[in-house]
Amino acid sequence: MDIISIKTAAKEKFQGACRLCPVCNGIVCAGEVPGMGGLGTGAAFRHNVEALADCRLNLRTIHSVKNPDMSCRIFGLELTLPIIAAAIGGIAMNMKGALTEEEYDTAIVSGCRKAGTIGMTGDGPNPAVFSTGMAAIGKEQGWGIPIIKPRETDKIVELAKQAAAAGCPAFGIDIDAAALVNMTNAGQPVGPKTIHELEYIKNRTTIPFIVKGIMTPDDAEACWQAGVDAIVVSNHGGRALDYTPGTAEVLPYIAEAVKGKMTVLVDGGIRSGADVLKMLALGADAVLLGRPLAIAAVGGGADGVDFMINKYRAELSAAMTLTGTAQTNDVPVEILW
Ligand SMILES: Cc1cc2nc3c(=O)[nH]c(=O)nc-3n(C[C@H](O)[C@H](O)[C@H](O)COP(=O)(O)O)c2cc1C
Repeated sequence: MDIISIKTAAKEKFQGACRLCPVCNGIVCAGEVPGMGGLGTGAAFRHNVEALADCRLNLRTIHSVKNPDMSCRIFGLELTLPIIAAAIGGIAMNMKGALTEEEYDTAIVSGCRKAGTIGMTGDGPNPAVFSTGMAAIGKEQGWGIPIIKPRETDKIVELAKQAAAAGCPAFGIDIDAAALVNMTNAGQPVGPKTIHELEYIKNRTTIPFIVKGIMTPDDAEACWQAGVDAIVVSNHGGRALDYTPGTAEVLPYIAEAVKGKMTVLVDGGIRSGADVLKMLALGADAVLLGRPLAIAAVGGGADGVDFMINKYRAELSAAMTLTGTAQTNDVPVEILW
């Protein structure tokens, strides 16, 4: 398996839903939601990629870091590298049925496990999206993290309990889906949550609680006050609100507010191992990959996902060596120019 064959197979299966651009930056697919693009003008998606491109690394080679340690420990999980697959749902709608929801979730969850990390699964207006994700996680003895839409609090608690019973190490909500009309139209209302509602969910669940879609220090502080275990700094790959900043722009401010008090994850526009290292230097404990692993899953199934994660692993290792970074859990900001 190689990157060319994965991309060639993916291009055919996507039937135009993703054009497999040389740089996956949201320009060609702007406004394609449903689809693989960013919402509206596509600015929020573009800002994710641009913010990382604007962030530069110091090349440093006079040091003793020859075998950087890429391992990462979050929520008590030992991952071989600080990369997690982001939740992606609605495969029929967004990817022109390039895979079935079941094939997609299996590729992500099993591919991540093979690569020594963990994958997230999504949720949608059709309840089958959540249960298909849970079935894929079940096939891997609970080794996966379901992300639930910001539904009514008792419904979130019910689904989180299912995740705990299946042996999942954590669950989350993508709170940035708070205005998703297709959920509400399907009779499954979503909405923003108060600190009290987050606390309510936390107090009724037993596994670590992740809130995905945080873009300001205030919201991060509110999550911490509610007892949330982890946040994902994310604008949903530019699919929630047009014109948000890139996640790499807001991450340092959010990390300053809550890093060390809770786990800080980030996603959006991460397209190489060097981008992963930049996010760690900006304050993340680990990162999520969305579209790059979607392409890998469509083009190569679980093996494709494993291949792509290993490609990032090799790039991260080289970037760590060439910046003098010994460990992913202690990336000094000084590696940034
Ligand atoms: C087609 C598509 C579907 C998505 N579905 C979900 C979902 O069901 N739940 C969720 O939390 N995030 C969802 N996301 C957002 C991703 O989890 C992630 O935040 C985003 O893709 C990261 O940006 P990147 O694709 O540039 O890496 C979706 C993204 C895409 C592109």
